[in-house]
Amino acid sequence: MYTGIMHTHTLVVSLFLLIYLVKTGLLFFNKTAVLQTFSAKIKVPEMIISTLFLLTGVYLAINTGNGGNWLWAKLVAVFVSIPLAVIAFKKQNKNLALLSLMALMYAYGVSETKSAFFKPEEKPGTASYNGREVYETYCISCHGADGKLMLSGAKDLTLSPLTLDQRIALINSGKNAMPAYAKTLSAAQIQAVAVYTQTIK
Ligand code: HEC
Repeated sequence: MYTGIMHTHTLVVSLFLLIYLVKTGLLFFNKTAVLQTFSAKIKVPEMIISTLFLLTGVYLAINTGNGGNWLWAKLVAVFVSIPLAVIAFKKQNKNLALLSLMALMYAYGVSETKSAFFKPEEKPGTASYNGREVYETYCISCHGADGKLMLSGAKDLTLSPLTLDQRIALINSGKNAMPAYAKTLSAAQIQAVAVYTQTIK
């Protein structure tokens, strides 16, 4: 369910951004007539896409657990960009349209990097930094940011009695609904993410 919604979210966000880019482009190149035709044609699909965008976004925000600052930064950016966009296109104001596009791009960047300021919170190169990055990319969908999500029968990682070697073995080969990562991740990444799972509180 969570993964499905996450994929839907990514899809509708991409579509939303695409429509938005086209509109801003038309506005910038003064193609007002084309812009009006395009906006009229795209109106209904755009409404469906934005509704899905918000619904899936809210679902994910509630179910991602403690997303931290980046989640808030993203929500604020999205909620600022929407009224800006409405006003920008009504008044055909290019600066506002650009500002709104930038806010949206920022929100997109923030969710890709999971960091409000586009920089990692810990020093790169340390095991904990890489482990956390791997974890947020591959594991969060079932285990959640705090290790307690337990989707698809996943276990609460904060209560796991497994040793480091047992964790590494399990991540390599998978178990029940838990996928095997030996082919997807390098040994160093698996080691790092296993160490990271021991630090989640
Ligand atoms: C598709 C869902 C899913 C994903 C994605 C996933 N896991 Fe799991 N994980 C599970 C399930 C289910 C279990 C319980 C397996 C069992 O013992 O039946 C589990 C168990 C674990 C355990 C053992 C906990 C214990 O005490 O037995 C660890 C450690 C773990 N996962 C780490 C990871 C890491 C690290 C990643 C990312 C590289 C990851 N998981 C990604 C579903 C998932």
